[in-house]
Amino acid sequence: METALYGPDGFYRRPEGPAGHFRTSVHASPLYAAAVARLLCRVDEVLGHPEEIAFVDMGAGRGELTGGVLAALPADVAARVRAYAVERAECPPGLDPRIIWRAGPPTGVTGLLFANEWLDNVPVDIAEVAADGTARRVLVRDDGTESLGGPVTGPDAAWLARWWPLGAEPGLRAEIGRPRDEAWAAAVACLERGLAVAVDYAHDRRGRPPFGTLTGFREGRETAPVPDGSCDITAHVALDACAMEGAVLLTQRAALGALGVSGGRPPLSLASEDPAAYVRALARAGQAAELTAPGGLGDFGWLVQPVGMPAGAALLVDVADHEEE
Ligand SMILES: C[S@@+](CC[C@H](N)C(=O)[O-])C[C@H]1O[C@@H](n2cnc3c(N)ncnc32)[C@H](O)[C@@H]1O
Repeated sequence: METALYGPDGFYRRPEGPAGHFRTSVHASPLYAAAVARLLCRVDEVLGHPEEIAFVDMGAGRGELTGGVLAALPADVAARVRAYAVERAECPPGLDPRIIWRAGPPTGVTGLLFANEWLDNVPVDIAEVAADGTARRVLVRDDGTESLGGPVTGPDAAWLARWWPLGAEPGLRAEIGRPRDEAWAAAVACLERGLAVAVDYAHDRRGRPPFGTLTGFREGRETAPVPDGSCDITAHVALDACAMEGAVLLTQRAALGALGVSGGRPPLSLASEDPAAYVRALARAGQAAELTAPGGLGDFGWLVQPVGMPAGAALLVDVADHEEE
């Protein structure tokens, strides 16, 4: 997975970038970047309007979210923001010169770190229960053919036992999320104070998928996860395992609702008073509905991780009302 995604011929090195193959919330609507900009403003307020406020876009793709956030910020915050796009791929040509392109997160910053659909692309190993009832590591050839390797032992076995216990039925599978927990902890550590948010396809201990979620994407279509660099390879994230002390887990629907994005239609009276405004509001409502849709982007998980500040203060919600049960 590491080589197939990030090696010299890896999928994420391709010139078309992730947007050439799939749509994230960032591409679905500018309402998303505007909501993230509002979150940054709230973090700025809770932190007492520091001289410099960082926005760190972790796994930035081609910098689309960073650009959208900069465009949506009010002038007083935009004047103090330092925007970092953290990405393994090369800096795209023509990037907004205000954006600092980096291969790794900065250190000791204060502000908001936002990781949209990053963790699902942090490589994981797969465990599968063999005929003898033991969990074994799945091996894969370049053409996608799989076989079972040795038993899962050590820290990976401990992670499975704690976060994704497998039964004895042959064929059951789990994605070993330990590298994602570690990647998330390392990213959060770049903040001296502030909020870190990871948004992704997620599941938790109450409902792990029995056969895992490993899959591929190419040109907008789901495909077999063949590790030859031709497709994205992704697996949903055990976000509850990534969460550290003080974190809150909620759905994208709840998080965007708290940030003022909802799919409600504009009042019909607006259609006669100001038809152009009505059409604009209707388009916004359609985009908001996509971002919050049940069975779609609205079901994504938001892991909201505070560092030296309360998570609920930034979201301006009583987090207990929104936390997933
Ligand atoms: C699915 S894309 C999401 C892009 C963007 N955040 C969006 O939502 O449209 C995941 C991105 O994370 C990047 N990535 C993966 N691991 C990374 C790491 N350790 N550091 C920086 N970027 C990484 C990949 O290169 C890829 O561009």
